[in-house]
Amino acid sequence: MYRFLRPLLFLLDAEQSHNLALFALRCVTLFPGGRSLLRALYANRTPALTVELMGLRFPNPVGLAAGLDKNARYQKAMSDLGFGFLELGTVTPLPQTGNPPKRLFRLPESGAIINRLGFNNIGATAFVQNLRRQGKSSIIGINIGKNKDTANEQAIEDYLKTFSAVYAYADYVAINVSSPNTPGLRDLQDRRRLDELLSRLKHEQVALGKTRRVYVPIAIKISPDLDDDHITTIAELALSHRLDAVIATNTTISRPGLEGHPHTSEQGGLSGRPLKHLSTAVIKKLYSELQGRVAIIGVGGIENAEDAWEKLVAGADLIQVYTALIYQGPRVVQEIVSGLASRVETSGCTTLAETVAKARSGIHLMR
Ligand SMILES: Cc1cc2nc3c(=O)[nH]c(=O)nc-3n(C[C@H](O)[C@H](O)[C@H](O)COP(=O)(O)O)c2cc1C
Repeated sequence: MYRFLRPLLFLLDAEQSHNLALFALRCVTLFPGGRSLLRALYANRTPALTVELMGLRFPNPVGLAAGLDKNARYQKAMSDLGFGFLELGTVTPLPQTGNPPKRLFRLPESGAIINRLGFNNIGATAFVQNLRRQGKSSIIGINIGKNKDTANEQAIEDYLKTFSAVYAYADYVAINVSSPNTPGLRDLQDRRRLDELLSRLKHEQVALGKTRRVYVPIAIKISPDLDDDHITTIAELALSHRLDAVIATNTTISRPGLEGHPHTSEQGGLSGRPLKHLSTAVIKKLYSELQGRVAIIGVGGIENAEDAWEKLVAGADLIQVYTALIYQGPRVVQEIVSGLASRVETSGCTTLAETVAKARSGIHLMR
């Protein structure tokens, strides 16, 4: 279906077509039988791919990356597309409009997108109302950030406010310190600032855990533009603060392999195919430091089951997609899920975790 719609959507401005596709998807779910139709087309039933992680049971390891459903409007429709989990947001304490248009650019021949949306979102209060209204139909991660007008010195207060606002609705909360489109945000990845941010959030997590009687895991989402020493620092902090996961990675400000492309000089974060190796390298380095003691969610340039497998073998426990969904439509989720299921089947193992562990030790033995 998406194959026929895509040429029409791609005639429009990138952001308009983005919004139109999401609106159309939501309309389908509002028709009687619409959700059953989506599930019949896209749902996956693959018990071998169940992943137990962070105290949660993921029906499959393929998640929706943050940024597509910034306002928690489409979670029902998204959960019918066969994702194992959804990460919603980034949501900030107060609503904000983001950067002025034009702020989203397609690079179809490279399977890439450059965006500088800048956390356009309806703010934590309205976000939570949307979640409440829709009820829950999937594992939900909520990605939080700070408002553009909040100075880095006050950023912790923004994260704490949003963290407590969404705590009761999240299966995990992702701390976004890696978007390149909020000036200075990525400086929050520096050791001193991150140390302070994480200790305050962990403190809040304990307090909320006591009153709400539920432990909500914390993940941190990092940039692909960090050097090895910086990744080591983040791994040390993830361990010392007993974080539950690291999400690697956000978009890059570099432009690998895109020299001469008309859009390369556009400011913003690059996602999709050109990001793939960069984010896999970060996952490998992280895994070598963490050795399974903190979960890794791998994201960046995954277009098919082979790419997903590469991320898993590099050290990821779960993976996420965004840009490939824009280019290929919802089928990509099913293709990745069924490709991974075939890997498990042909390996002679019974679970994905076992299959990945076997592949990782194979690589280790070959070294
Ligand atoms: C248009 C667009 C908006 C995004 N917005 C967010 C966001 O709000 N928060 C966030 O953490 N990541 C955001 N991302 C980054 C994605 O979640 C993901 O980390 C990145 O795109 C790499 O995955 P991909 O190559 O599969 O797209 C955005 C990406 C795109 C393309």
